[in-house]
Amino acid sequence: MSNTHDDIEIPMTYGTYLKVNELLKLQELQSDPPMHDELLFISIHQAYEIWFKQILFEFDSALQRLELDDIFEAYRLIKRVTKIETLLVSQIHILETMTPRDFASFRSILNPASGFQSVQFRELEFVSGMKNPDVLKGIKLNEEERQRLEQRLENKSIRDALYEALQRRGFDVEALDPYEENSERREQVMNELFKIYDSPEDYFHLYNLCEALVEHDQNILLWRFHHVRVVERLIGTKMGTGGSSGVRYLESTTKKRAFPMLWEVRGMLKDQHHYGKARGITKA
Ligand code: HEM
Repeated sequence: MSNTHDDIEIPMTYGTYLKVNELLKLQELQSDPPMHDELLFISIHQAYEIWFKQILFEFDSALQRLELDDIFEAYRLIKRVTKIETLLVSQIHILETMTPRDFASFRSILNPASGFQSVQFRELEFVSGMKNPDVLKGIKLNEEERQRLEQRLENKSIRDALYEALQRRGFDVEALDPYEENSERREQVMNELFKIYDSPEDYFHLYNLCEALVEHDQNILLWRFHHVRVVERLIGTKMGTGGSSGVRYLESTTKKRAFPMLWEVRGMLKDQHHYGKARGITKA
């Protein structure tokens, strides 16, 4: 491969293909005089945003695959998302090498910006099925961002697509609100999900898909938990730059799940069930 420039063929290089020069110009410190730790602060957020972009790309494809009943491919892509998320959970701890004083030296420059305004993080929540339109109220958005988020709220989520795929396979389920209070409808869905968890060998692909989605929920929960601890180490009980109560607000988000029923269903399995039939050791 090559680029043409003034009719001269320039061979493709690592730098031109990846636009490394352009990329490395994007970490612009705002502090003056420049504060040493601001580069890390900018780099880590940008790295998160690049990975969020990849996650959204994979989720959108996984959703399409689910609609085409290609359970294997949907599973493969969601599994990839969970691997990226594992990296994102551990990455937050790099910030623990910043002292509270280092952060305080440039924190006021950010004000009132905050991770709370990360559009891609909200997209990630919405596409998973955690659709809370209220979060949009606290975010200043340009027209393009607002449309993107409104579209995400309207569009099918992975949770919707999962339940539709289950329906097409004869399960009597519907994509209830994750915290549906109507106990009869809830019980019906739980009984259907139980079939998969009671007999994973009979529903191999569906079982793996459901567990990959639980893993995704778990990774986001873990990220929230690790993020809030790092935040507490850096700012203690100070308010967030985004205007929230800070740690107290973040603590309140550490229970959010897109697939609460997939978590709950395992509680329906009885201890000493009939698993001997499938799992018993066969004597030689
Ligand atoms: C010095 C490090 C950090 C501090 C002190 C910090 C602080 C906070 C605080 C206080 C909030 C609550 C909203 C508010 O500002 O009032 C928040 C929310 C958030 N932060 Fe951070 N943060 C840090 C690093 C990061 C990083 C590296 C990311 C990666 C993208 C991130 C992503 C988010 C997101 C997505 C939210 C919204 C969470 C939700 O509403 O559920 N933060 N952060």
